[in-house]
Amino acid sequence: MSTLIEVKNVTRVYRDTNGNPVYALKDVDLDIQEGEFISIIGPSGCGKTTLLRLIAGLDKPEKGTLKINGEEIGGPSFERGYIFQQAALFPWATVYDNVALGLKARKIFQANREKVQDYINLIGLDGFEKAYPHEISGGMAQRVAIIRSLINEPKVLLLDEPLGALDAFKRIELQEQLIGIWKKTKATMVMVTHDVDEAISLSGRIVIMTPRPGRIVHIVDVDLGPDRNRNNDDFIALRKLILEELHLVISQPQPEYAI
Ligand SMILES: Nc1ncnc2c1ncn2[C@@H]1O[C@H](COP(=O)(O)OP(=O)(O)O)[C@@H](O)[C@H]1O
Ligand SMILES: [Mg+2]
Repeated sequence: MSTLIEVKNVTRVYRDTNGNPVYALKDVDLDIQEGEFISIIGPSGCGKTTLLRLIAGLDKPEKGTLKINGEEIGGPSFERGYIFQQAALFPWATVYDNVALGLKARKIFQANREKVQDYINLIGLDGFEKAYPHEISGGMAQRVAIIRSLINEPKVLLLDEPLGALDAFKRIELQEQLIGIWKKTKATMVMVTHDVDEAISLSGRIVIMTPRPGRIVHIVDVDLGPDRNRNNDDFIALRKLILEELHLVISQPQPEYAI
């Protein structure tokens, strides 16, 4: 595999209301390989969304560089699809139109119609083309948001806690669909998640981040093969390792206060 995305020495600083710096990311390095499924995990506020937005080209770092195929990321592009945590569908448009509106070339040619329908079928929403977002479930809406990005055949899919709002059953169903989409499209998947089992089930590598300042502490290889059983010893051992790392992250010594 070759490197597709290169994040080098990236720092992104915000200011709090007192004007003090908040290091959302500090000196972050990450190489993402073409075609891999990589997850980013870590406690709230460790810079996961910031990192994803930078890769999407929706934001710029104060320091460091982000490249794709050796070229600096200058802004958003259809070749990098971005999926928000909450499905952001157009409420006034049907499922069909929401997907069609995602098309880079929006003119409705017959070929495009077929393509929209193919993608709707891919995620099992045939029969719901005419439904409006308020008439479908959260999981269905998230699937529509995913295919709205996929329809432009992006090289990279950036997913910010895409299944965060779903219950455990729907989550597992959509995880399987995500894997199916990854295998079918061969896109590079970069997924932020809070769910350790989800990260282990789906990814080839897991990036563990810590907050204040936001940085990468460890990148774990998941050498578990394609059929991942959550009750398998290797799966359980990996879960334990990652939870321990996250626990360490969360329980870092807090400042002591004299009473
Ligand atoms: N627009 C912003 N203005 C000020 N601070 C921000 C802004 N966006 C993010 N931050 C801060 O940067 C840090 C990282 O945020 P974020 O990337 O959203 O973390 P995560 O997605 O891991 O929860 C947090 O401390 C957050 O409060
Ligand atoms: Mg976030």
